[in-house]
Amino acid sequence: MNSFEPRVFSGVQPTGNLTLGNYLGAIKKFVALQDTNNCIYCVVDLHALTVNPNPEELIDGTRSIAAAFLAAGIDPVANIVFNQSRVHEHAELAWVFNCVARMGWLNRMTQFKEKAGKDRENASVGLFAYPTLMAADILAYRGTHVPVGDDQKQHLELARDIAQKFNNDYSKRIGDLQLGVPVTVGEETVNGYFPLTEPIIEGPATRIMSLRDGTKKMSKSDPSDLSRINLTDTADDIAKKIRKAKTDPEPLPGETDGLAGRPEAENLVNIYAALSETDMGEVLRDFGGQQFSVFKPALAELAIEKLDPLATEMRKLLDDSGYLDQVLAAGADRASAIARETMGDVKRIVGLSG
Ligand code: AMP
Ligand code: TRP
Repeated sequence: MNSFEPRVFSGVQPTGNLTLGNYLGAIKKFVALQDTNNCIYCVVDLHALTVNPNPEELIDGTRSIAAAFLAAGIDPVANIVFNQSRVHEHAELAWVFNCVARMGWLNRMTQFKEKAGKDRENASVGLFAYPTLMAADILAYRGTHVPVGDDQKQHLELARDIAQKFNNDYSKRIGDLQLGVPVTVGEETVNGYFPLTEPIIEGPATRIMSLRDGTKKMSKSDPSDLSRINLTDTADDIAKKIRKAKTDPEPLPGETDGLAGRPEAENLVNIYAALSETDMGEVLRDFGGQQFSVFKPALAELAIEKLDPLATEMRKLLDDSGYLDQVLAAGADRASAIARETMGDVKRIVGLSG
C-alpha cells in the first residue's frame, strides 16, 4: 500500500495486429477500470522501435491501437488516451532510470531473452533497455495500478525495483525538497517520491494461448495466422480459426480439474469464460460431457457476437484518421502537463536543476 492518489496506467505496443489475447488480457480490463479510476492509456510507439517496424506500419499501427481503445469503449475525455512519443518526458525519465537500474536486473528479463533469441549480440540496445522505458511510462504519472497480461509481470517487478532504489538513493534530497510521500514496503514506511506500482493481473484471461498450441501464448508475432484471432478478423475468419483450433479427442469434462493436461481444451473454455464474463466452472456446467463439435460452434458464435461490433467500429474510426490524430494530440497535451511536473521534480531531486 502507498499513499499516492490512485492512478491507472497501461500501454499497448503498435506492432502487428491486435489479438484476442490483447483484448481479453488488457483492453477489456482497461474499459472496466475507467468506471472507478483515473486512467491513462498509452500507445507505446517508442517501444515499437525496439523491433524496427517499417515507418508507415508504425503510423498506421498507432492509429489502429487508438481505434481499438475507443471502439472497445474507452472514453478519451474522462481518461487520457495518447501516444508515447508525443510526451518527451517518457524518454527523458527513461534515461534517468537507465542510470538507476542495474545490468543484472535487466539481464534477468525473460522477454528480452525470448525476443533476442540466440543472436543476442545483434539485438538492439533499445530492446534490452525496454523495461526501463516501461517503468518511465508508468512513473512519469506516478501510476499506482497497471492492468496487464501475465507476460508483463516481470517488467512490473522491475518498475517497483527502480522506484524503490530511486526512493532510497535520493531519500535525503526528496526529504529536503519536501517532495516525499509515505511509501510502505513490507512493515516499513519510508519517504519516497515514486509509488511501488501494483500490477492488476486477474480474471480468467491473464494468458490466452495460441489456437494451434495450447502451451504457447497467443501472439501478434506468431508466423501462423491460424494461431490467433485478430480484432480485425471477419466473422468468417473467426469461425474458420475456431473450427481449425487444435483440440483433443475427449469430450469436455464437467469440472475444471478435468482440464489438467489438456491445454488446448482449457484455453478454449477459458476464452469462452472471458468472453461471456463467467468462469470456467460455469462454462463446464453448461458444456461438460459435450464434444468439441458442439462446443466450437457455440464458441464461434459467442466470439463473433462480441468481436464483430468491435471490428466494425474500429474500421469506422480508422476511416477518419483526422479524428484519431486529434484524440491522440489532445490526450498528449493533458499527459504532458502531468509528466512535465514529475520530470521537473526528478530534475531537482537528482541535481539536474537547482
Ligand atoms: P503487447 O501486444 O505485447 O503490447 O501487449 C499488450 C497487452 O496485452 C499487455 O498487457 C499484454 O500482457 C497483453 N497480452 C498480450 N498477449 C496476451 C495473451 N495472449 N493473453 C493475455 N494477455 C495478453
Ligand atoms: N511492455 C508492454 C507490453 O508489451 C507494453 C507497455 C509499455 C506497458 N509500457 C507500459 C504496459 C506501461 C503497461 C504499462 O505489453
